[in-house]
Amino acid sequence: MRSLRTGSTLASLLTGVAMLGGLLLAAPVAQAADAPLRDLAAAKGKVIGTAVTGSKLTGTYGEIAAREFNALTPGNAMKWESVEPARGSFNWAEADRIVAFAEANGQEVRGHTLVWHSQNPGWLTNGTWTAAQLRQLMTDHIATEVGRYKGRLATWDVVNEPFNEDGTYRQTLWYNGLGADYIAQALTAARAADPSAKLYINDYNVEGVNAKSTALYNLVKSLKERGVPIDGVGLQAHLILGQVPSTLQQNIQRFADLGVDVAITELDIRINLPADSAELAQQATEYKQVVSACVAVARCVGVTVWGFTDSDSWIPDTFPGQGAATPYDENFAPKPAYHAIAEALGGTTTPPTGACKATYSVVSQWNSGFTGQVRIACDGASLSSWKATWAYGAGQRISQSWNATCTQSGAAVSCSNASYNGTVPNGGSVTFGFNASWSGSNPVPVVTLG
Ligand code: XIL
Repeated sequence: MRSLRTGSTLASLLTGVAMLGGLLLAAPVAQAADAPLRDLAAAKGKVIGTAVTGSKLTGTYGEIAAREFNALTPGNAMKWESVEPARGSFNWAEADRIVAFAEANGQEVRGHTLVWHSQNPGWLTNGTWTAAQLRQLMTDHIATEVGRYKGRLATWDVVNEPFNEDGTYRQTLWYNGLGADYIAQALTAARAADPSAKLYINDYNVEGVNAKSTALYNLVKSLKERGVPIDGVGLQAHLILGQVPSTLQQNIQRFADLGVDVAITELDIRINLPADSAELAQQATEYKQVVSACVAVARCVGVTVWGFTDSDSWIPDTFPGQGAATPYDENFAPKPAYHAIAEALGGTTTPPTGACKATYSVVSQWNSGFTGQVRIACDGASLSSWKATWAYGAGQRISQSWNATCTQSGAAVSCSNASYNGTVPNGGSVTFGFNASWSGSNPVPVVTLG
């Protein structure tokens, strides 16, 4: 049985009732949900995180980020170009804001990322540096940034994306200037700056067993043997629909067997747009596979999604024509993938099959007449045309309608979409209204969508 859960949902329901002047309001009003993902994850001792944009952490975005996730990763705010755009001139505002938000909401923070080939400031990439200068720049950067948040961050992605697809080292500012040992130097500097943070190497296309993940495996093994501080491996998991590697769990397990933690750090599953309901269902299955693989391995600490809503996802910008990659749609409606994550974390509520529902309400009422409205809202489904029908039980008669064409024959009312509002997208809604007469009583009918 699904039920209203949060105080805020109840509050908005009550506000809605008040706006109707205490008149009639038909259920169902709210889409209830499973326990929040963070509660399910905590019960399993796992992290469920999301990348966030600091400036968006208010309103619905902030509510969902706080309610559903027990960890945050700044999507961009801690990258070098963000924190030191000009040499010696620091901007910590967005990073500080995210850390403060996390602390206020009892969430971990995953610092992302210290040493990378991308999103570095121009002064750094355009400069000419000796190896000694470059090493100093790198270790100073780590000391400054890690030191700023010392004791407050759970984890750092110290080195990001060090490998090519064939398992050779990526030719970067760091590799070219310092050789492969830049990785050990960065980890050592990070440990010195914050001994309590877990230190990770993070990369993409290392989710399954392949040449790149094997290179990462061999690196971690040799770092461990040398006594270099390395606590974990981040598998980004920017996946394409239909391409979850079959060796994911086996790969997680082999890293765990090396004696390091594993995290899925940037999960999203992109779809060629527009995504239809079959694709969203398949995406849900694949989200469940990924989260389940992590749940199955004790040393897999958890899963972070790279943005929880399609409105805050990097995919459409970076992979034109693709998107719909996150667990919530652009209007913050949970997609099948959301419920799949809940299931993988042990949620017991049956995920709802996608549905569109019509809600009838009386907006205002006077001695002989009233204004009514019907709102059609879709969650996990969509409509390209609609017809709402009901039977009036107390002789009410419609005289006029807008945003729909309504006909009435005896008690039976039938309202079809206008030419311009037949489409109701997943997560969207349309509303139409009407004036009608009543006498004696004005009971709310049950509306059927056809
Ligand atoms: C992405 C951000 O989400 C975008 O906003 C930005 O424009 C580019 O970087 N791997 C990583 C992340 O480690 O830092 C990247 O984030 C996505 C790929």
